[in-house]
Amino acid sequence: MLRGEVEISGAKNAAVAIIPAALMVDGVCRIENMPQISDTDMLLTILSELGAKVNYINHSTIEIDCSKVRYQDAPYDLMRKIRASYYLIGAMLGRFGSAKTTMPGGCNFGVRPIDQHIKGMTALGANVEVKNGFVYADVAGGRLHGTRIYLDKVSVGATMNILIAAVMAQGRTIIENAAREPHIVDLANFLNSMGADVRGAGTDTIKINGVEKLHGGTYAIIPDQIEAGTYMVAAAATGGEVLVKNVIPRHLECISAKLRETGTIVQEYEDSILVKGASTLRKVNIKTLPYPGFPTDMQPQMGALLCLAEGTSVITEGIYDNRFKYVSELRKMGAEAHVDGRVAVIEGGAKLSGAPVQACDLRAGAAMVIAGLCANGVTEIEDIHYIERGYENFVDKLRSLGADIRLVSFEDSCSGAEILSIS
Ligand code: EPZ
Repeated sequence: MLRGEVEISGAKNAAVAIIPAALMVDGVCRIENMPQISDTDMLLTILSELGAKVNYINHSTIEIDCSKVRYQDAPYDLMRKIRASYYLIGAMLGRFGSAKTTMPGGCNFGVRPIDQHIKGMTALGANVEVKNGFVYADVAGGRLHGTRIYLDKVSVGATMNILIAAVMAQGRTIIENAAREPHIVDLANFLNSMGADVRGAGTDTIKINGVEKLHGGTYAIIPDQIEAGTYMVAAAATGGEVLVKNVIPRHLECISAKLRETGTIVQEYEDSILVKGASTLRKVNIKTLPYPGFPTDMQPQMGALLCLAEGTSVITEGIYDNRFKYVSELRKMGAEAHVDGRVAVIEGGAKLSGAPVQACDLRAGAAMVIAGLCANGVTEIEDIHYIERGYENFVDKLRSLGADIRLVSFEDSCSGAEILSIS
């Protein structure tokens, strides 16, 4: 049962776009509320290899100076590891008029193409080619030109990548059928604080007037909507009482509403949310949708919680082909659930028991931690590098809420890998 207060860090999916966007700035970007996670570490290393000066002011404030960066080969081995490396296409094209990146890595839940990114860059005047696992792009004359782009699919990454590329293009760009997530608004606000001219972020139509250059400045990243939601669900699942601090309640409305449907008490304050677990959890049905719909990045966490609810819940994954790998891991712990394509049916009322399980991806890993916190006996979770990609100080924050969770060192664990042990 989790009890106490937890402080939410900066938003991962904003930070992983803002760091590449800093490449466009001819000056020093002071970025506050930067989450210390492996994805941001990797992107900062990539920027440093491109000649950026990265200065760590304190644990959540960094200064990035890209005034001396020059176009050159980047560390492709690092690029391959993360999905967000695709933002370097837009940033390098916008800054240098040329880009070479790897096809993006990232969590594997089905096909994750980048055709809409390529459509956008091509519309802005770039010649884009994908060959041997690399993306090559360049624009004649070195500067992109504004255009109107209609996205065939609502895509967070394509919206942000095109936004980054367009801020220094010649003329006006309009992105239609744009994604509306809070981190898109955060990226636009970051770019505007550096001298860009972006309007309409957060709606499905974003207008960008290209500027000649971007100057340095200071910006604070918004709190992480998904990290906050994860702790809210963990509090509900364990029947605890947790004050989740440093949040923007408006960004969490869908998650709060779903939790209230389960019978959980959710009280919103100006920049915090109090979650009180119910004695019994009611079943709910969920369909994941682009923002402001229920976020796909909260789907696995809710899957773990609904194993404990009374009655049968149905989860429909509206964004990805295959984001239910975690269900087979939950079944190892005694959950009654089965998957049919993009639908998972979860019989509730399970008494979960601890077991050795795997984190199949970032949010699936968080789901296994939630299940472990509710299970009888010890749960050991492998492949926790996924979790470390998106949750700052996950173990410390959970331990401060009373969780009996610890990182088991290499020699102690049976499989020889670093694992999380939850009792
Ligand atoms: C971002 O991924 C996030 N990652 C994901 O979060 C999140 O799940 C996703 O947005 C949706 O909110 C980052 O921001 C680094 P999309 P992204 O483009 O940009 C299809 C997490 O756990 N699509 O919005 O890859 C795509 O296959 C991670 O933090 C195309 O068809 O997501 C998917 O079905 C996991 N063509 C749908 O659109 C494209 O060119 C939405 O993808 C691009 C996407």
